[in-house]
Amino acid sequence: MEITLKEILPPAYREHRAILHFNIHTLEDIEGVVEAGYELDLPVIVACTPRVLNTLGGRSIVGVYRSLADYCSTPVVLHLDHTTELRDIWRAISSGFTSVMIDGSRLPYEENVQLTRTVVEVARAAGISVEGEIGAVPGKEDDLKDYSKDLTDPDMAYSFVLETEVDALAVSIGSAHGFYKELPKLDFERLGSINKKVNIPLVLHGGTGIPVSDIKKAISLGIAKVNIGTELLALVTETYREVSRLDCDALEIVDAGKRRLKERVKELLLEIER
Ligand code: 13P
Repeated sequence: MEITLKEILPPAYREHRAILHFNIHTLEDIEGVVEAGYELDLPVIVACTPRVLNTLGGRSIVGVYRSLADYCSTPVVLHLDHTTELRDIWRAISSGFTSVMIDGSRLPYEENVQLTRTVVEVARAAGISVEGEIGAVPGKEDDLKDYSKDLTDPDMAYSFVLETEVDALAVSIGSAHGFYKELPKLDFERLGSINKKVNIPLVLHGGTGIPVSDIKKAISLGIAKVNIGTELLALVTETYREVSRLDCDALEIVDAGKRRLKERVKELLLEIER
């Protein structure tokens, strides 16, 4: 079933549950994620970055998504992750994505509000959902020692939500994208204060490598969407490498990648979402 974040996240948020977001990098990854959700009877969010959108093409991604989501009874969102350019948002909306994230977190506050508001207006007209970000979740390229200045300020989060009317809000509470060199220390106190102020579903980025107990605590404090990417890309890449050393053809290599990804997605769904 095709669905948006604005239909799926509010009930999860009220019930202190979270829906998992999985970053895909191939068309076969989409099948792996959707089949995993279907087999466990759990909703899933299939997500890709603009780089993946522009490499695989919106029509191909949406074609595979629709052919699977329309066929199965479990809810599946197709979400464009971390977008900074409006042209990628328009491309995703016109291709048939059901959700987009506009990431103005590196911009000055007013510019972030303006950009996000523009996307919300168009997305509303198209009937799809929008995730925004305030504070900035560091990426692999950032100096992780110096990210405390980018943590989300609860008052700023409150006014951002009021001014933009986003459906979900990504917050920076100590997680980072990519593999962690040391276990991250999530700022639960800050998360609790943000949650009290904004009262809308919150999103935890940088899910790879965060202990399940910490993810669960974050869910109890308002996180209703947990994003997982790096570990899945690493798993599929490693599987391709491993299997291509054997006497396998391209079909077998691609199929092995999909099966491993599906198994791992199922494990994560059972550990966190169920
Ligand atoms: P990881 O790649 O660290 O799992 O984070 C994924 C993410 O937050 C995508 O938005």
